[in-house]
Amino acid sequence: MKELPLLRKTLHAVIKNYKHHPDDQYRPVWHLSPIVGLLNDPNGFIQFQGQYHLFYQWNPLAADHSNKFWGHWTSSDLVNWSNESVALLPSEDFDQDGCFSGSAVDDQGQLVLVYTGNVMLGDGKDLEHRTAWQCIARQQSDGTFEKKAVIGQLDGYTGHIRDPKVWKHNDLWYMVLAAQAPKKQGKVLLFKSTDLEAWTLVGEIAGSELNDMGLFGYMWECPDLFHLDGHDVLISCPQGIEPEGRRYLNLHQAGYLLGTLDYETGHYPHSKFFQLDYGHEFYAPQTTLAEDGRRLIVGWMGVPDQDEFSQPTLKHGWIHIMTAPRELSIKQGQIYQSPVKELEALRVNHQHVKGIANSLPTFDSSSAEIIIHSQDDYEVTISNTLWIQRSAEGITLKRQSLSLDETEVRYWDGDVEKLQILIDRSSVEIFINDGLGVMTSRYFPKHELLLELSGDAVLDVNYWELKAASLI
Ligand code: FRU
Repeated sequence: MKELPLLRKTLHAVIKNYKHHPDDQYRPVWHLSPIVGLLNDPNGFIQFQGQYHLFYQWNPLAADHSNKFWGHWTSSDLVNWSNESVALLPSEDFDQDGCFSGSAVDDQGQLVLVYTGNVMLGDGKDLEHRTAWQCIARQQSDGTFEKKAVIGQLDGYTGHIRDPKVWKHNDLWYMVLAAQAPKKQGKVLLFKSTDLEAWTLVGEIAGSELNDMGLFGYMWECPDLFHLDGHDVLISCPQGIEPEGRRYLNLHQAGYLLGTLDYETGHYPHSKFFQLDYGHEFYAPQTTLAEDGRRLIVGWMGVPDQDEFSQPTLKHGWIHIMTAPRELSIKQGQIYQSPVKELEALRVNHQHVKGIANSLPTFDSSSAEIIIHSQDDYEVTISNTLWIQRSAEGITLKRQSLSLDETEVRYWDGDVEKLQILIDRSSVEIFINDGLGVMTSRYFPKHELLLELSGDAVLDVNYWELKAASLI
């Protein structure tokens, strides 16, 4: 056997037998986290021959953004996940500075990854001096992936070209790709192909200074286009958007447009840009169509360059987690997200209480789910580190800053009737009114792991502890 396959097998055996440090108190028990190093975007999310695959941007060599590999998990139920051997390593000239984000497709029974090969030019110190290849990697019978570069530098764009998302429509392959026009305008390009190798550019479908968007960011990372409930949805992550009142408070955005795509011309008239999440950490989400027809989404619970390296998990050599898998639907012209129903399998020790918030018991908040119905004002305090306030304006979410002696605030505006809150050691995912609004945040409690309810409102509360998933 050659050295590389043996090394992959060795690494896999080490990953499988790795035990987390008992003091690793912020390590989630049912969310995906990297065993070591840095995790960012979800990649290659697909249900292939019955099994879910989720790949991810992974730097196993350091808890920073320096080396990007594709890590790989599989699952039969979206709850319990297994570590597979690392899928892509930056080993070729065309991906020497990172196997960047991308997607996965089923090509007549073969799993094919489509990703960006990042190549820095010059001495690599000037981050703007770069080029990119779009590459495919076909899975071989031994499980490894054979790579090939299929699209090079595009005329008329800078070297910031990345994150191919591919799908099939009417027997042709289509790809959306993030690119940057020379005046630093973020654009989403549409390509088509018969064989995943020869690609033809259809055109720019959306972006800054297109379709009435005005100036809207210097890069639209991680585009994803799919049809749902009568709309062609384009998800993307625009960078360079200034805060506007209570909106766009994260450093980079994740949001969507609803429209109708003309696949022939690339013409895509669309709605305004909606935020997908209103919490502190949500970025680079990716969707897939499950075999039962559900449109599922997973996001990165992090934002690039947003106080990342103040996170205390660095002490244990790792950083960042994925969100829970969620199901998407569209009602009254807006996306709803709800945690996939499979996660209910983690619920144990149910409690149902009703009464004035101030009089209700406290709950353990280490790994839990709580559903609250009320139309009055109340507050949920989690471990004295994160505060969820329901008022007539909507939700105010505050958390203790990681680096400063202050709180950081995010908002969701609207009439709140129901909150479903999922907690896992150092994360919350708050689904408002059955997922019309979502707020996703990390927090790092130093206090007792308690959830407290306060206020004069009468609440109807369902609470469960969530048991640990199998994540091996
Ligand atoms: C988004 C992103 C992508 C890129 C990847 C590199 O977080 O910047 O655009 O492909 O991360 O890790």
